[in-house]
Amino acid sequence: MDKFLIKGPNKIKGQVSISGSKNAALPILAATLLFDKEVTIDNLPRVKDIDTMINLLKSLGSKIQFSKNKKTVKISKSKKQNFLAPYSLVKTMRGSILSLGALIAKYKKAIISLPGGCLIGARPINYHLSALKKLGMKYEIKKGYIHASSKGKLQGKKIKFSKISVGATENLIIAACLANGKTVLKNCAIEPEIKNDLTNFLNKAGAKIKWTGKRTCQIIGVNSLKETKYSVMGDRIETGTFCVAATLAKGDLLIKNFNPKLIQTELNLLKKTGATIKTSKDEIHIKGPQKIKNISNIVTKEYPISLATDLQAQFMVLLCLASGRSSITESIFENRFMHVAELRRLGGRIIIKGNKAIIEGQTEFIGAELMSSDLRASAALVLAAMVAKGQSVINRIYHLDRGYEKIENKLRKIGVNIKRLS
Ligand code: UD1
Repeated sequence: MDKFLIKGPNKIKGQVSISGSKNAALPILAATLLFDKEVTIDNLPRVKDIDTMINLLKSLGSKIQFSKNKKTVKISKSKKQNFLAPYSLVKTMRGSILSLGALIAKYKKAIISLPGGCLIGARPINYHLSALKKLGMKYEIKKGYIHASSKGKLQGKKIKFSKISVGATENLIIAACLANGKTVLKNCAIEPEIKNDLTNFLNKAGAKIKWTGKRTCQIIGVNSLKETKYSVMGDRIETGTFCVAATLAKGDLLIKNFNPKLIQTELNLLKKTGATIKTSKDEIHIKGPQKIKNISNIVTKEYPISLATDLQAQFMVLLCLASGRSSITESIFENRFMHVAELRRLGGRIIIKGNKAIIEGQTEFIGAELMSSDLRASAALVLAAMVAKGQSVINRIYHLDRGYEKIENKLRKIGVNIKRLS
């Protein structure tokens, strides 16, 4: 298993180019199951989760043709369509559940492994299932698999999600594209990966999706989608991670290929900690302060209300170095503080009370051997090791490889002493 060896403390200077968004690419790739015609997707990030989704599409029967650099893929339908998303693929990536809406809408049949829980929480899929049932999907759960079918075409309906869910919103938008008549989804997740990218991609292919209210999406079903080329947006969480890195390490960093408007909430929080930020159309120039200010009462919330849960761990590292006490409440996932025990091993003083972390500032991180637990927690450990005095070894970095494209190369280019040990 690969490890990172990081020697610190490091200062950051230079520029970094943001890769395509994993969380935008996954639903777009799943939605290609709706097509009879060829689809070309560009600006894919070269990360493990994308390989897993491509393997799932292959096992379902899609023909895959990558460009040399593997950033562009052409996907077309083969003669033999399968309907089974096996446990081996779903267990490594919960995003595989996004194939359910597409398969049921297009082929009226799907057998998908239940994802089960993961380290950050139970993560049920009840909202996906109950909403698809309203459109006419029938299902049973047998031996850990969802056996889903539909007698005829799905039928458009009005659905109000009882809780905002990124995945359920995506699955329903995808399914409703080929349903009969009008579907209205209320209380939707409106992350840019959905409201911008998934919507724009499907509409470019001839779908009729319209956002009629802040969290209301109307979809008029169409019979088929046409041949399409689409380029995936930049990765919001990678951008946020580099913004935190620059703030943390007294950095001077130019972040390219990301629209700053889509990460305004987090940029405002970083300004509060003392960062100087200048933005243009698709660039962020960020300079870290000499002294980081603390912030109390940050609560993670759905986009765009407050800090993204996927950036919570990275912000916690920053606040460990602040001049006073801060707190972060995690309101999206029930168990997303796996990084805390590891940050304590570097010297972090963090107390957990329920879903609230109280972070004492003025920590001087000292390098240590660390263990990655999940994707974003691993990114936080890399940031902490980067500013820690001495040497850190981060184990199990396969978690990071799921969602960050060549993070060590990008960090090395901006001055971080980081090495991958295979
Ligand atoms: C997506 C993102 C993930 C991010 C999360 C929240 C992808 C591939 N993943 O995950 O990076 O951390 O959004 O921004 O885009 N819930 C239920 N029942 C359901 C669905 C969700 O109870 O049927 C709960 C979840 O357990 C969680 C909350 O709702 O507590 C939000 O989850 P959701 O928005 O669905 O997250 P994902 O789509 O899994």
